[in-house]
Amino acid sequence: MNLDELNSIAKKMVAPGKGILAADESTGTIQKRFDKIGVANNEDNRRDYREMLFRTDTAMKSHIGGVILFDETIRQKAKDGTPLVKLIEGAGSIPGIKVDAGAKPLAGSPGETVTEGLDGLRERLKDYHKLGARFAKWRAVIDIGKDIPSYNCINANAHALARYAALCQENGIVPIVEPEVLMDGDHDIARCEEVTVWTLKEVFQELFYANVALEGMILKPNMIVPGMKCAKQNSADDVARATIRVLKQCVPSAVPGIAFLSGGQSDEDATAHLSAMNAIGGLPWALTFSYGRALQAAPQKAWSGKAENVAAGQKAFAHRALMNSLAATGKWTKTAETA
Ligand code: 13P
Repeated sequence: MNLDELNSIAKKMVAPGKGILAADESTGTIQKRFDKIGVANNEDNRRDYREMLFRTDTAMKSHIGGVILFDETIRQKAKDGTPLVKLIEGAGSIPGIKVDAGAKPLAGSPGETVTEGLDGLRERLKDYHKLGARFAKWRAVIDIGKDIPSYNCINANAHALARYAALCQENGIVPIVEPEVLMDGDHDIARCEEVTVWTLKEVFQELFYANVALEGMILKPNMIVPGMKCAKQNSADDVARATIRVLKQCVPSAVPGIAFLSGGQSDEDATAHLSAMNAIGGLPWALTFSYGRALQAAPQKAWSGKAENVAAGQKAFAHRALMNSLAATGKWTKTAETA
């Protein structure tokens, strides 16, 4: 393992004012997104859509430090034959790859899941490195509900994340370690805080046992927010203070960057929350975005699968990328949304 190289890749992914575009929707997940805009889920449409994003020069060159891809996309070519990976590299951004095989029912823990995909991962990582990937992503899912999460669920997911991260580093790939505590349900912000602390403590313990070098990874956590169905929705200030409190308790300062998932927050909430955290400041890690929905919902709607809407789709993507770049430096304001 060349730790200096891993550390320099990680730092580039979260360079000041930059974050990560999570464009790694599986074929099933992109189906849900395309259904909303009436677009057929075929290979050409998936290619056209992602090509539109990766050719948005303003966003890609200035605000997007890395792009997470799905297996199909890392092998795909743009309409003119240029590999999509080359478009990303050409903009000065870093290609990455989702390597988990999804969250599957966890035996012994009804209603909970463990993320699979460790079998054969070493060989797949070697292949992805040849295809240009310099970082990877593995998402673990922790649900909050009556009597859950269980220790079994948190422990099994933390252990899998650590084994994945060690394999990535062995193969010159920076692992994005993503333990997502879901915001589904009616739990309050305090319950999210409690479960997230438990999860992150377990994750860092397992990373330590697996000899993962913290300087060569990125953490992708949820923010501390109430469940979507909770009667009390907290202010951006509450969310920012609780999230920073949790991260300071759980994340060693050797980790170069923390890049949040958006998790179902509205576009503007995801931006406002990130900006409020960076405005507090004095943090030992870069704090930025690794959004899927909160970066892509607007361009998907503007594009709607029509070639004549590509410029509008790119404009919408450039706008959200700029707003989140401002948030990554604590400088976003509501007026910037309409400026
Ligand atoms: P969202 O920002 O839509 O939650 O997606 C981020 C992601 O990569 C989930 O794994």
